[in-house]
Amino acid sequence: MVNLEGLLTERLASAFEQVAGMPVDPSTRRSQHADFQCDGALALARRLGRNPREIAAEILGHARLDDLCSAVEISGPGFVNLTVAPGVLGRLLAGITDDERLGVPLPERPETITVDYSAPNTAKEMHVGHLRSTIIGDAAVRVLEWQGHTVVRQNHLGDWGTPFGMLIEHLLDIGESEAAHELSVGDLNGFYQAARGKFDADDAFKDRSRKRVVALQSGDETTLRLWHTLVAESKKYFMAVYARMGVRLTEEDFFGESFYNDQLHAVVDELDALGLLRESEGAKCVFPEGFTNRTGEPLPLIVQKSDGGFGYAATDLATIRRRLRVLHATRLLYVVGSPQSRHLEMVFETARDASWLTDSARAQHVGFGSVLGSDGKVLRTRAGASVKLVDLLDEAVIRAAAAIAEKNPDLDEESRAAVARAVGIGAVKYADLSTDRLKDYRFDYDRMLSFDGNTAPYLQYARARICSIFGKAGVQAPRGTEALVVAEPDERTLALQLLAFPGLIAEVADSLEFHRLAHYLFDLATAFTGFYERCPVLRSEGEVLRSRLVLCDLTARTLAVGLELLGIEAPDRM
Ligand code: ARG
Repeated sequence: MVNLEGLLTERLASAFEQVAGMPVDPSTRRSQHADFQCDGALALARRLGRNPREIAAEILGHARLDDLCSAVEISGPGFVNLTVAPGVLGRLLAGITDDERLGVPLPERPETITVDYSAPNTAKEMHVGHLRSTIIGDAAVRVLEWQGHTVVRQNHLGDWGTPFGMLIEHLLDIGESEAAHELSVGDLNGFYQAARGKFDADDAFKDRSRKRVVALQSGDETTLRLWHTLVAESKKYFMAVYARMGVRLTEEDFFGESFYNDQLHAVVDELDALGLLRESEGAKCVFPEGFTNRTGEPLPLIVQKSDGGFGYAATDLATIRRRLRVLHATRLLYVVGSPQSRHLEMVFETARDASWLTDSARAQHVGFGSVLGSDGKVLRTRAGASVKLVDLLDEAVIRAAAAIAEKNPDLDEESRAAVARAVGIGAVKYADLSTDRLKDYRFDYDRMLSFDGNTAPYLQYARARICSIFGKAGVQAPRGTEALVVAEPDERTLALQLLAFPGLIAEVADSLEFHRLAHYLFDLATAFTGFYERCPVLRSEGEVLRSRLVLCDLTARTLAVGLELLGIEAPDRM
């Protein structure tokens, strides 16, 4: 095992068990006073009504740590401080120089995990909410897939429902080829608003639209063909946006709302047979336990409307059912903005009540906050419309290009364009992923594109600088099993940070808190800066030179893998 913290925890756990007579969680954490600190003795002492320092001493009497630690101390009220032996750090690092996975183990139980993300709506511009879902969902896909799970991407496109009546009628009004043109070049808002405008102003149009909805639902062939045109053109546009963003969604991942149409009656029938359906104002509803409105009355989840139509909730129940039964997923992620939290919780609870979701599978809402403008309000254009996603990305790339031209005027034009793209798109993604996803964040080009601070350009630049160390010297980092020299304090700090990667990945895969990965990478780059300032690399010799080259190489590789997992490219030269 190369997970150092895990190794220490394991050793302590068995000592704790001997002292307590039962399993105790002895988890350790990084500390300022030593490498690691374990507070477990305090909680155990409270439980046993004993002196914590005495407990700590007893733990240490039982723990086998001498092969790992050079110093073990009890401090303060009963903390156990552990200092890892330099030789151990050197051996563990040597053990990962040949490992593409940088010490990250494959999961003991690989799972099938569905990730529902992006999910824009047909013939409607993607907005910043979809931007967040796409960025966060893509990071989830990358981390879980890299960990070794089977990940199934599900793009729950909004491609069904009453708006299609007016959209199809508008398409007929302007002609199919004009409509296809508008949609495929991304004038989705123009198209949608024109339809909406007529619907609101023109009764005859409204009437046609309503009839068209009925025709669509009853499977009228011409109507379906027109609907298909709308959906296909929109998909083309969304695929272009994904390509621009460098996300891993493909045409095959679209499983839009319409995909579930023929499963909705079965959903109703099953819930009915289980006795979960109740009629409320003509609609068939479930009332999942624990959801009430402000006056304490149970809240309904409408499965089938009084006119026989199905809505968003029915479709989402069908997604759970299919992801469990057909895809055999054991973890179902829904990357959707926090305002839909209650909807999803009600859907999950219903699925549990129906015993679709059991203990062998879990559904999780991966929620997120809003993107705010500089005024602290939800991001809008000056005209008040919601901001177009591609415009945000384009602007970031343009600004990145200017910054790169200034920083490195010698870069040829082609490389400069590629670097600008990596930096611009990377900056937008990193700004999103480096904040706690449940919080709102301010969209601020200057900050996200800065080469200082916790930003993508800072990390990309840090890595490119390491690449240039190797480039200049024409050397390569040695790989192999020779233990490294880890003697200087800055070398220790860097070594410990590198060895924390496997534990960090496990934690992020579980919590899907990508800001932890971002902060880890920032701390790694900072640790590297300290090391590089105070520990000469190319001017040293022998095994010190070899060890320092390995530290450089492992840092560059960890930065590259970490950024890649966040969906961010790391150019070798900037
Ligand atoms: N299309 C929806 C929207 O734009 C998001 C769908 C999220 N996924 C889901 N399974 N409900 O708000």
